[in-house]
Amino acid sequence: TASRSARISGRVRVPGDKSVSHRALILGALATGRTRITGLLEAEDVMATAGAVTALGAEVTHNDGVFEVLGQGVGGLRAPRGPLDFGNSGTSSRLMLGVVAGHDMRVEFTGDASLCHRPMGRVLRPLTTMGLQVEGEGETFPLAVRGTLDILPIAYDLPVPSAQVKSSILLAGLHAPGRTTVVEPLATRDHTERMLGFFGAELKVEDRADGTRAVTVCGDAELAGASFAVPGDPSSAAFIVAAALICPGSEVVIENVLMNPTRTGFFETLREMGAEIALLDLRDEGGEPVGDLRVKAGALKGVRVPPGRAPSMIDEYPVLAVVAAFAEGETRMEGLAELKVKESDRLAATAAGLKACGVVAHVEGDDLIVEGTGTVKGGGRVETHMDHRIAMAFLTLGLGAEEPVTVDDVGMIATSFPGFGSLMTELGASLA
Ligand code: S3P
Repeated sequence: TASRSARISGRVRVPGDKSVSHRALILGALATGRTRITGLLEAEDVMATAGAVTALGAEVTHNDGVFEVLGQGVGGLRAPRGPLDFGNSGTSSRLMLGVVAGHDMRVEFTGDASLCHRPMGRVLRPLTTMGLQVEGEGETFPLAVRGTLDILPIAYDLPVPSAQVKSSILLAGLHAPGRTTVVEPLATRDHTERMLGFFGAELKVEDRADGTRAVTVCGDAELAGASFAVPGDPSSAAFIVAAALICPGSEVVIENVLMNPTRTGFFETLREMGAEIALLDLRDEGGEPVGDLRVKAGALKGVRVPPGRAPSMIDEYPVLAVVAAFAEGETRMEGLAELKVKESDRLAATAAGLKACGVVAHVEGDDLIVEGTGTVKGGGRVETHMDHRIAMAFLTLGLGAEEPVTVDDVGMIATSFPGFGSLMTELGASLA
């Protein structure tokens, strides 16, 4: 339960970026030699990736906040003894399908009830074109696949803007002879590309005149173990930023946040709404831009969020919708089809949660419309549908609402943001 909080203030760091953490473990496992990772997100989703690469023969050790991966080289992993269980993590499972595709092994993939409902056809289609065999007709987990040493390079136009699908194909392409190209309709998060370059792969990124982006990786790649510092996760920082904006008198500094432009759509949108967010000390770490964010509470107005911005803030729509409820006027978030296939149907779950808290909101096709009035009644009990971000978004709403807000389950928060409750409480939030 979250209750109205006077003021959110302080200086904090958030746990490491989830997307970057998954990739550091996976590329570490595919590199030769040791990879040293600091700041890795120690949450259930990332531990699912660590478990998977370990089951496939990479060695992962953890000492005093430092993770070390002893990689086996591209193509050097071996068959696991049992099924790989990815828990709640779509990213781990889809990226690892690409890795397994390039190895001569049969692997069973499974996960929790949420993951077993998520679409895998979007990765299985291109990967089967490259040579992966899928047992049975199913396109959801549990699923058994067989990879091959004869994986083929492809050129593939992504039908959906998904970094997971892009990354899965690029990872399979590392094992193929020749060049594998993925063309994305809108640029999605590019951590795989940046990190592949960092580990020594040959890679070309081309922004085309029609707005699409083509990424080409050279196959039969050799990756060399590297040292890597994972910056703070902007998708976790988003909840603190939102809380600071809606609790009057707040001021927070969040240090060391990943500021990759393919991830910062939320902050851009908040600025358009009138939020005071300063980016301090922008710097580069391990090929990724990183900075400190200073946020102050203030009046906000509703805005239109164009569909083209969706990839750069796809995980932040639930919490943006929460902020929009505290703004004056209508916020229209367009082109959110991908939200329906996340850990839950986030479009429906967000609209339902807002309504349960007395906010006027509705879904029109793929758009979410929130009518902000500056104040939110709250008092609701929100169903999270096994979705960590729905849980955190509505606890955040409760901090600014007139009446306490309860969410039905906080267990899933551990998949991405362990310590969310204590960190928010430290900043002055009333959570019980
Ligand atoms: C992620 C990509 C996004 C995002 C997810 C993490 C990644 O999913 O929602 O939380 O690390 O590549 P899609 O690529 O399916 O949009």
